[in-house]
Amino acid sequence: MLSDKLKEETKSNHQQLEKVMVGKLRAIRSKEEYADVLKLFYGYFGGLEMEINKVIDASLLPDNADRRKTQSLADDLQSLGAAVPVKASGDDLPVLTSHLQAIGALYVIEGSTLGGKIISKMMQQQLALRDNELTFFTSYGNNTEQMWDAFKDALNYQATNPEQEAVVIAAANQTFLKFGEWFKSRSS
Ligand code: HEM
Repeated sequence: MLSDKLKEETKSNHQQLEKVMVGKLRAIRSKEEYADVLKLFYGYFGGLEMEINKVIDASLLPDNADRRKTQSLADDLQSLGAAVPVKASGDDLPVLTSHLQAIGALYVIEGSTLGGKIISKMMQQQLALRDNELTFFTSYGNNTEQMWDAFKDALNYQATNPEQEAVVIAAANQTFLKFGEWFKSRSS
C-alpha cells in the first residue's frame, strides 16, 4: 500500500529532520525561543499549504480543509505576542504542480501531528505554556491517531499504479528535504 511505501521510502529523511529538530527543541528555555521555532513552521507550512491548495483535488480528500495548519500556527504566535513571518515561496518549497504531488506534501504535514504529540509534551515540560500557545503541536489531541488513520485510508486510494506512487513519494521526500534546509539555514 502507498502509505507503507511512503513510510519506508521517506524514513531516512524523517530521521534526519527529527535529529536536527530534537536538538533544537531540547535547547529551548524561553517562550521567545519557542516562538522562533513556530515561526519556522509557519513560514514553511504556510507557503506549502498555499501551493497545496492550488493543485489539490479536494473532492478526493473530503476533510482536506480541516487539515490546514497555517491558521493554528498564526494563532499560537499571536497568543505568544510574536510576529507572524513571511511565508516560504519559490525554491524554498518543493515543486507541486499536480494533485499527486500535493498529496505527497500533505503526507509530511499530516505526519508531523504524530511527532507533535512528543513535541507538545517536551514543550510543556520545558515551558509553562497556555493551551492557546500550543495548538499547532497539540493538533488533533486525542483524535490524532484517528485522523492519521483516516488520512492514510484516503491516501491509499489516490495513486493507482507504481508510476503515480513514485510521484507521491518523490514529492514527500522533497518536502522533507526542503524543510530540513529551511529549518537549518534559519535556526541559530
Ligand atoms: C522532534 C521532532 C519529531 C519527532 C520526535 C517525531 C517523531 C515521530 C514518531 C514517533 C512517529 C511515528 C508515530 C507512529 O507511528 O505512531 C512519526 C511519524 C511521522 N512523522 Fe515525525 N517526528 C518529528 C518531527 C516531524 C516533522 C517536523 C515532520 C514533518 C515535517 C514529521 C513527519 C512525520 C511523518 C510523515 C510521519 C509518518 C510516518 C508513517 O508513515 O508512519 N515528523 N514521527
